[in-house]
Amino acid sequence: MMHAKHLKYAALLIVTGLCASTAQAVKPATNRDTLMEGRRIYEQACAWCHGIGGEGDGPAGWFIGRYTSPRPRNFVNDGYKLRSTASGELPTDQNLFRVITQGIPGVMPAYRSLNERERWQVIAYLKSWNSAFEEETPAPLTFPSAPPGPTEAGIQHGRHLYVKLDCRVCHGDNGEGDGPEATAGHLRDADNLRIRATNLTDPSAWKNGASSHDLLRTLMTGLDGTPMPSYANEFDGQEEALWDLVWYIQSLSGQQGR
Ligand code: HEC
Ligand code: HEC
Repeated sequence: MMHAKHLKYAALLIVTGLCASTAQAVKPATNRDTLMEGRRIYEQACAWCHGIGGEGDGPAGWFIGRYTSPRPRNFVNDGYKLRSTASGELPTDQNLFRVITQGIPGVMPAYRSLNERERWQVIAYLKSWNSAFEEETPAPLTFPSAPPGPTEAGIQHGRHLYVKLDCRVCHGDNGEGDGPEATAGHLRDADNLRIRATNLTDPSAWKNGASSHDLLRTLMTGLDGTPMPSYANEFDGQEEALWDLVWYIQSLSGQQGR
């Protein structure tokens, strides 16, 4: 009898423990204390790149990327690349949490050293610079669920779409980032700085993640502020085709289906 009771209690503890470790559970309310803590963390960890006033003009950021893309994000008035929301929309809190947790390959460190509460505090602080965050709560797009898995025919169809949709013009015939628009130096970002088309054969360098769901999200949302457009409209009502394109891209690095 005692024994069973203990077990039940232990199970309850495990369940509560699991909940506490999900990001939402520790998210503090946006009040004065949260913003003050967020500011302290921001000034220690982020300001040297993103600038003390959030304008993307910190000393290190300026030094590493004055003439090359990407510049550190300007939180006062820039758009965002890494979102689950439609092109032109603000990111969700979860999108911001993801980028701070995972960092951006090659340009921004991952901040797992901050605990989750601290990450939420810094998010509240950086949002406070852009009043658009108060006016609307950004809503994620609805993403089509994955069909059973990649087929050879699906990958072939994906290749066909890759050519038909002119992905190759920027990313190159074999996805190596060497399409004619890229090699001619025509690609520019929102700061009018030259930007490279991503090498699609090297998933470790991708900013928005490399799982099939991550790729689908990249294609539907686009990376705002760069020449990488959103393809949500092209695939409206043709979800299968979108997945074929995802699998073709993954096949370029031999990772289809992951
Ligand atoms: C070493 C420089 C550096 C540091 C330090 C840094 N960042 Fe960044 N961050 C960048 C750069 C560069 C970009 C732009 C990347 C791009 O556009 O591809 C960026 C982009 C971002 C974005 C925008 C992502 C998007 O969707 O467009 C957020 C949010 C962000 N940083 C938050 C933070 C926070 C919060 C901190 C501190 C905890 C921080 N960064 C520290 C360099 C840095
Ligand atoms: C007009 C040029 C252009 C076209 C057309 C284009 N892209 Fe891109 N794409 C880019 C650029 C530039 C980037 C890099 C953005 C960055 O680094 O911030 C990019 C990034 C990407 C990424 C990497 C995202 C990440 O997580 O880092 C993928 C995947 C991608 N493109 C796939 C495609 C596919 C598939 C198509 C066609 C359906 C396509 N692109 C069409 C220019 C283009």
